[in-house]
Amino acid sequence: MHAMIGRLNHVAIAVPDLAAAAALYRDSLGARVGPPLAQPDHGVSVVFVELPNTKVELLSPLGENSPVAAFLERNPAGGIHHICYEVADIAAARDRLVARGARILGDGEPKIGAHGKPVLFLHPKDFNGTLIELEQV
Ligand code: CO
Repeated sequence: MHAMIGRLNHVAIAVPDLAAAAALYRDSLGARVGPPLAQPDHGVSVVFVELPNTKVELLSPLGENSPVAAFLERNPAGGIHHICYEVADIAAARDRLVARGARILGDGEPKIGAHGKPVLFLHPKDFNGTLIELEQV
């Protein structure tokens, strides 16, 4: 079977203080850091850190029922929340994974993600304790 996942699209890091985390990446690590962006549909505020080969997304909770709020309760200093791999055909990827016993979070249907493209999340217990996002590019 040919490769299903492609480039590492981004690593998402949940942070308790978005401005402080952005300043750390900009000033200490010398990275190209964008402005904070509210994404109310996804329950997060995001700062994109542009690297030559991928992105880091700094996430902080926005509003009720944020997907990162419970994570930050367990990891108050922040931590890696998920990693995102690119796929060419998200429906085919989903079908292959389900056939192999992997669990898709939610109703199993792709949703439009933070970049306006279809995404799915895979259960971390099926992938070495890592929450994996697949994004169709
Ligand atoms: Co993501």
